[in-house]
Amino acid sequence: MLKRLCVATASIFICLVYITSAASDGSVTQQCLSCICEAISGCNVTSGCSGNVCGAFRLSWGYWADAGKPTLEDDDPEKAEAFKNCALDANCASTAVQGYVNRFSQDCNGDGKVDCDDFALLHIVGGYGCVGATLPDAHGKRYKQCKEILGKV
Ligand SMILES: *[C@@H]1O[C@H](CO)[C@@H](O)[C@H](O)[C@H]1NC(C)=O
Repeated sequence: MLKRLCVATASIFICLVYITSAASDGSVTQQCLSCICEAISGCNVTSGCSGNVCGAFRLSWGYWADAGKPTLEDDDPEKAEAFKNCALDANCASTAVQGYVNRFSQDCNGDGKVDCDDFALLHIVGGYGCVGATLPDAHGKRYKQCKEILGKV
């Protein structure tokens, strides 16, 4: 389920797509998923595929495979369309993010805790290069705004 949440403050007006039924067995909260989605694409759920990435989370095939190839119910992970079908579905894509982040979970920014700041880096920079990395400007700005609005991520 997706819910749109718009907030106006003195400095910004922003709409968040709040993801309300993410996989519940992972460490990534729904607020965190929402902010990762916001950071990477403005959470554009109608963005389709461009280049080799698909959906609001901009998943690549390799990311999806690293995440354990989650699929829509009744889909077969070995089918050619399975990746795209999942990446374009907010729930399935959220499950993929959970899977990827759980797999690569680490303290990317070296602040002594593993939290959404690390998960955002894992998602955007990648599991192999997140240590010491920072979010690219545009992504970092959207992530920070989202975090301010949602409070706890
Ligand atoms: C979402 O992405 C599509 C395809 O790139 C684009 O046409 C549309 O304007 C985007 N929507 C928003 C709200 O940015």
